[in-house]
Amino acid sequence: MTKQTVRDIDLENKRVLVRVDYNVPIKDGVVGDTLRIKASFETIKYLLGKNCSIVLMSHLGRPDGKVDPALSLEPVAKKASELLGHEIGFVDDCVGPKVKEAVMALKPGGIVLLENLRFHPEEEKNDKGFAKQLSEWGEVYVDDAFAVIHRAHASTVGVTEYLPSVAGLLVEKEIDHIQGSLDHPNRPLAAIIGGAKVSTKIELLEALIPKVDILMIGGAMANTFFLGESHEIGKSLAEPDFVDTVKKLVKEAEKEDTVLLLPEEVVVSASLEKAKEVRTVKLAEVKPDDIIVDAAPSFAETLKEAMYEVLDFDNKGTVIWNGPVGVAEVPEFAAGSKAVADEILDLGAISIIGGGDTAAYVDDHGLHDKFTWVSTGGGASLELMSGKELPGVAALQDKDSEKS
Ligand code: 3PG
Repeated sequence: MTKQTVRDIDLENKRVLVRVDYNVPIKDGVVGDTLRIKASFETIKYLLGKNCSIVLMSHLGRPDGKVDPALSLEPVAKKASELLGHEIGFVDDCVGPKVKEAVMALKPGGIVLLENLRFHPEEEKNDKGFAKQLSEWGEVYVDDAFAVIHRAHASTVGVTEYLPSVAGLLVEKEIDHIQGSLDHPNRPLAAIIGGAKVSTKIELLEALIPKVDILMIGGAMANTFFLGESHEIGKSLAEPDFVDTVKKLVKEAEKEDTVLLLPEEVVVSASLEKAKEVRTVKLAEVKPDDIIVDAAPSFAETLKEAMYEVLDFDNKGTVIWNGPVGVAEVPEFAAGSKAVADEILDLGAISIIGGGDTAAYVDDHGLHDKFTWVSTGGGASLELMSGKELPGVAALQDKDSEKS
């Protein structure tokens, strides 16, 4: 990446303010998924190796600027401490005298996690005074919160006005993997894009069409493309207002010589929430009462066929996957997504999995470690793949900057 990282500046014995994304599921005080917590450890261990003291800050949920005990980070401090095997203290605020006392008492190797930044409305407003107060807790700022790096908040952007600011190792890896796969891919490059609404992924599709060799579209998004081709989609979810937009995308793909693939066989059900009168049918056999709930596994096979057509046999190619191709939270409607996962792994291609629903799917099926990279960020990975500037990255020091 073009920004400085923890490896580019002198950190020996410094007090380092680290923005992490510990926005993890918590139920009745018990932390669920710990991937984001574990993903922060590489940077933390690197800083411990430099005798740093570490002040961690994060948000949790969307408390809307008010204190909400259910969204306290205290259980996360305990869990992170247990997983890291190193004590992590906790302070029940992120600004004020209590924090100052805890931070000033930190010795080299000491770590403290501050309370949820979003208990203060100033955080999301990127308030300068609040950012300045946060900046007082470190001599250097490290942004390792990839999942929230698309937000211009006090803890991701404002604080960089006051401290030398560099990326953590997670942020570096996320950007190198995701951006690298799009800018310097091992070809052929395929993207499989699923999810419910095409309207939320138009910028992504526009950015991908000129870059990828193969674009596969699944999930309810594909239904809007089917409407554009005047196929019967029964009672399936779709966005008729976006039919003209998807027609333009299809034309753009033709112009760019991008192979655009949609499922030719689908799974239909009489209910979206549960398996009811489920059938696997050719697209032309969808009836007016049917709801399309999944791409048939045959859709995944078209990936391999298309890859082999353009494959340079020295390369195994690259596949980016963002969005399940069916209603994957209902087990009977998850076979299409399972087939996609299996097919990507079978190809042996470099595989980049977008965060959010796709990462959750991969984790739930115990497949996380099999892919080249599984992003910790949902919205952030989508924006990065869409070619948008990420404010939290833009605010960091450039590699050639003197400021350190
Ligand atoms: C996420 O879970 O996607 C990040 O933590 C960002 O959270 P937000 O969408 O509430 O800003």
